[in-house]
Amino acid sequence: SNIVSSQVDLHAKTSGVVPEVASRAHMEAIIPVVEKALLQENTKSEIRNTKQTQKYNVLNIKNSDSNIVSNFDIGASDLLQEVTHLAVTAGPGLIGSLLVGFNTAKSLAYALNIPIIPINHIEGHIYSALCGENPKSEYRNSKQHQNNKDRKTQEISNFVLRALNFPILALTVSGGHTSLTLMKDHGVYENIGATIDDAAGEAFDKVAKLLDLGYPGGPIVSRYAKKYREKISNSKFLISNQITNPESTSSQNQCHSVEENPADSAGRCGGDLNIKFPRPLLDRPDFNFSFSGLKTSVLYTVKKLTVNSQPLTAELKQQICYEFEEAVVDVLVTKTMRAAMQYEPKIIILAGGVSANLFLRKRLTEELKNHKTKEHDCIELLLPPLELCGDNAAMIGLAAYYHIIRDDISSWDKIKVDSNLKL
Ligand code: KG4
Ligand code: ZN
Repeated sequence: SNIVSSQVDLHAKTSGVVPEVASRAHMEAIIPVVEKALLQENTKSEIRNTKQTQKYNVLNIKNSDSNIVSNFDIGASDLLQEVTHLAVTAGPGLIGSLLVGFNTAKSLAYALNIPIIPINHIEGHIYSALCGENPKSEYRNSKQHQNNKDRKTQEISNFVLRALNFPILALTVSGGHTSLTLMKDHGVYENIGATIDDAAGEAFDKVAKLLDLGYPGGPIVSRYAKKYREKISNSKFLISNQITNPESTSSQNQCHSVEENPADSAGRCGGDLNIKFPRPLLDRPDFNFSFSGLKTSVLYTVKKLTVNSQPLTAELKQQICYEFEEAVVDVLVTKTMRAAMQYEPKIIILAGGVSANLFLRKRLTEELKNHKTKEHDCIELLLPPLELCGDNAAMIGLAAYYHIIRDDISSWDKIKVDSNLKL
């Protein structure tokens, strides 16, 4: 089960996360979420089947006998007894929120006397990409797993995970992080680049706030950008149609592309804005990112356009979102491809909340299609399913699975929470 308790409605009121508000909401949600996860039908029947087999093995009753299964009334605390390992996010992130999850997991590990696995949030995001459509099973292929056959890890063997080829280059883009990581093996990471100020998701959220579009900003900004992208691609199509087929010109379809419709001295023109946002740090050879200047650039543009207290039209907001998204995606894709040339990974992973951005997914997919390494191999791109791009429990459990199979587990009294935890 993968229960997600969202605080989006709460943070929408302030157009962003207020740390104290977030941690209080975590306090209220944490126990009900744990209970709900345990009591979810598929979890319950898994555990019921195990219990039932134990109880009825003498009578040789099949696991799938639904009458017997439904006769068991099992509560959350019974189900908790069947848990073999606990995994929890140990950082990085807002300390108040981290502490709620961390201390709940620690207390459970102490009470149940079971091992606990502290997981780096970014590592969780990276592993979410293994849940994609690829049917290859790491579990079946792994020699390491054969050596660990007798351990309790068998209980999570029904995950169908794809096998990985290293090295992997992972671009993690979320509300708090933008990082490029070289993964040489499971658990072996080298940070090759990170944001020096705002994260990409944070910039999306701030631009949405500036344009009064709501929270979280990423999906809304992206929707607005898409509308403008469609508009200019239609107008380019009409123009090229007019050139090749001049008779088709009519007063109704006289559209102009952005290049043909420059702004007047006030910066405003018939729906199209003559601006371009910067591509921060693109001229630097390193793999670091910066998005705060880009956000400021959007702010100046909005100020300039609203100087006479004129509100921005929906069309102008769409164009600003488009120009902004183009700039962010350009930087992310260009730096990732440069890192790919240097490190020659077998796989690129895109993960984190912003990896739900369809334009980013498309641009990276296209770039990789055109890219060949020295050995003429294509680099494979792994994307998490859309429902696992944002923060979720499954990705933390999945990352923990790889710690468990290499026996990298801890006890409640040895682990520490760290809001700046590094991979
Ligand atoms: O990973 P995540 O759920 O939480 C953090 O670890 O921060 O990422 C949330 C971020 C937010 O900033 C949100 O605006 C952004 O991911 N996001 C998107 C999209 N969907 C979510 N950004 C751009 N395009 C999207 N479609
Ligand atoms: Zn996240």
